[in-house]
Amino acid sequence: MSESKIHEVPSDIAARAHIDHDQYQSLYQRSVEDPEGFWAEQADRFVTWFKKWDKVMDYSYGPDDVFIRWFDGGKLNVAYNCLDRHLDTRGDQIAIVWEGDDPSVDRSLTYRELHAEVCKLGNVLKSRGVKKGDRVCIYMPMVPEAAVAMLACARIGAVHSVVFGGFSPDSLRDRILDSDCRVLITADESLRGGRQVPLKKNADQALAECPDVSTCLVIQRTGGEVAWNGERDLWYHEAMAEASVDCEPEPMDAEDPLFILYTSGSTGKPKGVLHTTGGYLVFAAMTHLYTFDYQDGEMYWCTADVGWVTGHTYIVYGPLANGAKTLMFEGVPNYPDNSRFWQVVDKHQVNIFYTAPTAIRALMRAGTDPVKATSRSSLRILGTVGEPINPEAWEWYYQVVGDSRCPVVDTWWQTETGGHLITPLPGATPLKPGSATRPFFGVVPALVDASEGTLIDGAGEGALVITRPWPGQMRTVHGDHQRFIDTYFKQYPGYYFSGDGSRRDADGYYWITGRIDDVLNVSGHRLGTAEIESALVLHEAVAEAAVVGYPHDIKGQGIYAYVTTMAGVEPTDALKQELVKLVRTEIGPIATVDIIQWAPGLPKTRSGKIMRRILRKIAANEVSALGDTSTLADPTVVEDLIDHRANQ
Ligand code: WT7
Repeated sequence: MSESKIHEVPSDIAARAHIDHDQYQSLYQRSVEDPEGFWAEQADRFVTWFKKWDKVMDYSYGPDDVFIRWFDGGKLNVAYNCLDRHLDTRGDQIAIVWEGDDPSVDRSLTYRELHAEVCKLGNVLKSRGVKKGDRVCIYMPMVPEAAVAMLACARIGAVHSVVFGGFSPDSLRDRILDSDCRVLITADESLRGGRQVPLKKNADQALAECPDVSTCLVIQRTGGEVAWNGERDLWYHEAMAEASVDCEPEPMDAEDPLFILYTSGSTGKPKGVLHTTGGYLVFAAMTHLYTFDYQDGEMYWCTADVGWVTGHTYIVYGPLANGAKTLMFEGVPNYPDNSRFWQVVDKHQVNIFYTAPTAIRALMRAGTDPVKATSRSSLRILGTVGEPINPEAWEWYYQVVGDSRCPVVDTWWQTETGGHLITPLPGATPLKPGSATRPFFGVVPALVDASEGTLIDGAGEGALVITRPWPGQMRTVHGDHQRFIDTYFKQYPGYYFSGDGSRRDADGYYWITGRIDDVLNVSGHRLGTAEIESALVLHEAVAEAAVVGYPHDIKGQGIYAYVTTMAGVEPTDALKQELVKLVRTEIGPIATVDIIQWAPGLPKTRSGKIMRRILRKIAANEVSALGDTSTLADPTVVEDLIDHRANQ
């Protein structure tokens, strides 16, 4: 890695930034020396409370119980903070700009308009029996109504569970059942890159096995034909036409749940990550303002989908809490052509642009012409998230997209963390391409030597842990607190374990190396190897499967599956295709297996544990460095896999 290269903070950025270099140093120090004083000030500054808290922070990171509480006793409402409190000062200012999949289609909502929609939907939900604490599932295209739905839940105290519109009916069903949602909000179809996705049809399939869902509210997006269940289904536009615009925001306790969002782990089914109200909102608003150096009136665009945490925190809650203009994009980077992102930047005069390394790498492939055909002169700050960014892609983003003018903030965080934990601040942090740089205020990361279990001082590499809570931290796994403890607090007692590895250089900069558990990151989407393996073994021809990631030029990681067929089954290309299709139907198109290698046997220890380390090496074509193989039950298995490896 080109570690020597440093991009200093541009002086024009530093001059007007919220936080400059010295302010970062002193405020960071204050945030760790006096966390209660520091966070009380931030909570006061970023959030309007109906009632102040009794205690800023209380927590235990184990070993027995784990609990995390922020601003306990405080009362607030997230929708009130994102809407009502802005009405006097910026009611007629744009809140959401929506750019459709078709470049000729766009729309915007002012804060006043958004407020009215949210109130109406709040009343519709109430009229269908939704009460404070009830769960509502949202399975939607990227349209403003997705944000309206989230905010309407927040307004009446319901807990939303957004399921990414690319997930399969089975994945949707599992998530609805796990969190016991009684209402589903969806659309007839979504539209991406000119193609329709049949959301209502998928929903019908899922709901066939969810008898407790009594209402399915359907937004008309494309006008495509849908099946209808008169007792359960309700058109959004019809229900909204009759709804009142008066809907009082429900006063919520700071620690009342705000949302559940499912994410993949190393084992088992995806877990429902639970975030609460007060701490999450403080952290979302504060990180949005400082990480992007958001200045009043600027146009801000995060290209994520609301189905991921990035969409929750950095399309909806953070920006709207700050009274920002947030752009929501329905389409994809290469439709109608590879200039689309930059055309949208010019069209809406975007100042801050936040996307994923996988999109940058894909566009980099298409060359500089599609970028240079546009002006992009409005851009001031660029951001990336989702996976490690290679220095080459970083430099391309910086030089070609940003014309070497715009700082790139490489933001490291997770669904579990609610918001940015390690990130540069544009006016404060000299940048090193490929490094997420330094911790955000109040965040104390550390590296643990994985074999010794001891903390690493100074420069080094190890497992990335966080040593104390921050307000945006997840509070539990919905319905399974023990799983929360086991997943994040068992491996390195006393710390939150992120699942990532990282290096720290002599300047204290963090270089995230990627997951060190059995989680894959494919195009910035998180997938558990266990989930994919469970899907593969559903096939009657499959006896056993082991899945690992391997380096992929564009996706970051590709999915490599070793499959052992049942005795007597002929392993054919047709079977490979069936298996790829099976995984896509079970999980969704984001889980597309790239490579299947037939494995007569899998490398196991004498106690029967699959040695994934070896499988990863073979998949990466690094067969000369397999490491210690002395614990293998049958070494010939490995020789066979090497001889027939599929990625040479
Ligand atoms: C995992 C979390 C939170 C936003 C979207 C992904 C990886 C995320 C970075 C980054 C290196 C990153 C990590 C992390 N990751 N951002 N800037 N540099 N790696 O959320 O689905 O919860 O995935 O994404 O491996 O653990 P997520």
